Amino acid sequence: MIILILGGQGNLGTQLTKSLTGNYEVVSLDREDLDFLDFKVLISKVREIAPNIIINAAAYNAVDQCENKEEYELAMKLNAYFPGLLADIAVEQKAVLIHYSTDYVFSGTEDKTFFTEEDTPNPVNKYGESKFQGEQEILRRVESGLKYYLIRTSKLFGPRGSSPQAKPSFFDIMLDLVQNKKELTVVNEELSCFTYTPDLSLATRQLWELEKPYGVYHLVNQGPVTWYDAVKELFRLKKITAPIRAVRSENLLRAARRPKFSILKNTKVKKMRSWEEALQEYLRK
Ligand SMILES: NC(=O)c1ccc[n+]([C@@H]2O[C@H](COP(=O)([O-])OP(=O)(O)OC[C@H]3O[C@@H](n4cnc5c(N)ncnc54)[C@H](OP(=O)(O)O)[C@@H]3O)[C@@H](O)[C@H]2O)c1
Repeated sequence: MIILILGGQGNLGTQLTKSLTGNYEVVSLDREDLDFLDFKVLISKVREIAPNIIINAAAYNAVDQCENKEEYELAMKLNAYFPGLLADIAVEQKAVLIHYSTDYVFSGTEDKTFFTEEDTPNPVNKYGESKFQGEQEILRRVESGLKYYLIRTSKLFGPRGSSPQAKPSFFDIMLDLVQNKKELTVVNEELSCFTYTPDLSLATRQLWELEKPYGVYHLVNQGPVTWYDAVKELFRLKKITAPIRAVRSENLLRAARRPKFSILKNTKVKKMRSWEEALQEYLRK
């Protein structure tokens, strides 16, 4: 079986490439191989590889920059039109398309803090909007016979991707910041679930290996938490005593609004372990 991974040097893509190589014939492509937005080159490359499964781990992820008009246009190309094109190629090649979306397609209130796979998205920022449009592009092709797993996930963390541009994960940033600061200021909002990229890679492959029906899936580690409470747990595990100050998102100058509640509820497959357990493993390694 041939598996094509797009964005194979990103944070998630690197873990997918690691986890699948050896068991499958894996072709992992990233920016150094081609620009995915050069659709002509991309189409001929995918036809040449003739994959059985296409995994799209590439995305435009700069949430605040995306509020800018030109950046939003770029985000739409990568997060919406590109998955649409991949869906067309998947139909043509009779391949399965696996695509990742985000909890940012939702925004909750105190009355509704969690979302199942069937809930209707209502993004509050441009990044969420572009990812929602990507979902729609994929779902629109289902009546043409598209075989797909659309996976929503949130707050990824784990080993840094192999691309030189790969961003460090939230926990690594906090450990780095605390070296030079007396006190850390952390938002005590955005109740949602962390997801460890090695766990997500495993849960992804189990979808086709266990022959789960095609559709939308919510794959996250268990246990919703705010950024502030997550740093408290991180410091407890690392025995760091530096004070942490909880703030509201209004106190930070950020261009994009964030959902206050966006807990993804997995109602379809075996639940993943808790984020605390996953974090312990990450820190051990
Ligand atoms: N990170 C999170 O917390 C989070 C939360 C929810 C959902 N997700 C979703 O999970 C998926 C994986 O996210 P991630 O954080 O692992 O992403 P990532 O680390 O940013 O990786 C994306 C990879 O795709 C490459 N890429 C982007 N545009 C490209 C282009 N035009 N041509 C060729 N390569 C290109 C990037 O290269 P460059 O680095 O050179 O651009 C990067 O190596 C995405 O769909 C994302 O929306 C992520």
